[in-house]
Amino acid sequence: MGKRYPVQIHARLPRLMRIIFLGPPGAGKGTQAKLLAKKYTIPQISTGDILREAIRQGTLLGLEAKKFMDKGELVPDTVIIGIIRQRIQEQDCKNGFIFDGFPRTIPQAEALRKMLVLLNLSLDAVLSIVVKDEILIKRISGRRTCPVCNAVYHILHNPPRMPGLCDRDHTPLIQRNDEKEETVRNRLVVYKKQTQPLIDYYKKQGLLKEVDGEQTIEAIYSQIAGFLA
Ligand code: AP5
Repeated sequence: MGKRYPVQIHARLPRLMRIIFLGPPGAGKGTQAKLLAKKYTIPQISTGDILREAIRQGTLLGLEAKKFMDKGELVPDTVIIGIIRQRIQEQDCKNGFIFDGFPRTIPQAEALRKMLVLLNLSLDAVLSIVVKDEILIKRISGRRTCPVCNAVYHILHNPPRMPGLCDRDHTPLIQRNDEKEETVRNRLVVYKKQTQPLIDYYKKQGLLKEVDGEQTIEAIYSQIAGFLA
C-alpha cells in the first residue's frame, strides 16, 4: 500500500507567510510547497502548473509557452512577470503565498521586489532545496502527475493508492512532456546558468535557508517547519 499524505498536517495557523521555493527540477519544490500551502492555508503558486494549464486549454499563452517548455528552456521573463503581477493581487493571496518555480532569473526576482514594494509586502523566507543531479534524474523519471488536480506522486517514494490513478479524483496519471532525459538534462543546465544566481541574490538579503533535499519527504518538511517556526 502506498503512503497517503506522508506528513502529519498540524493545526492550521492563521499566520501571514510569503515564501519562495528555489531548487533544480525534481528537487521537491512542488511536493513541499503543497504541504506548506495546506499548513498555512495559503495558495501554492506554481508557474509551471499555470503554464501547463494554459497549454492544456490551448490558449495563446499556452501555445507560446509550449515552444520553450518542450525544449527545457525558460519562458520569457515578461510573460512570467505578467502572470505573477496579476496572480498575487487575487483575493486568496491576502494572507500570503508560496512561490514554486518563481522567480527563476534575476530580472524576475527584481520585478518581484518592485511589485512587493508597491504593495507594501515583504518576503519571509527563500527555501533553497539542494539535491545532487543523479538523484534529480531518478526522481523525475519516477514522477507521475495528475493532469486534473496537479497532485504529484513517485512510483517508488510516494506511490498512489491504486497504481496509475490519482488518489483524489482517480484520473489516470501522466508523465510530463518535459520529462524526457535529454530535456531534463537541459533543464538542469538552464537551472545552473539562469536560476542558481538567485541563491546569492537572496543570501545577500538574509532570506536564504538551505534545505537538505536528499532526506525523506517527511524529514525535509520537518526541517522547513523548523526554519519557519
Ligand atoms: P516547473 O513545473 O516549475 O518544473 P521544475 O522547476 O523544473 O520543477 P519540477 O516540477 O520538475 O520539480 P519539483 O522541484 O517541483 O519536484 P517535485 O515535487 O515534482 O517548470 C516547468 C517548465 O515551465 C520550465 O522548464 C520552464 O520552461 C517553465 N517555467 C516555469 N516557471 C518558470 C519561470 N518562473 N520562468 C520561466 N519559465 C518557467 O518532485 C519530483 C519527484 O520526486 C516527484 O515524483 C516526487 O514525488 C518525488 N519526491 C519529492 N521529494 C522527494 C523526496 N524527498 N524523496 C524522494 N522522492 C521525492
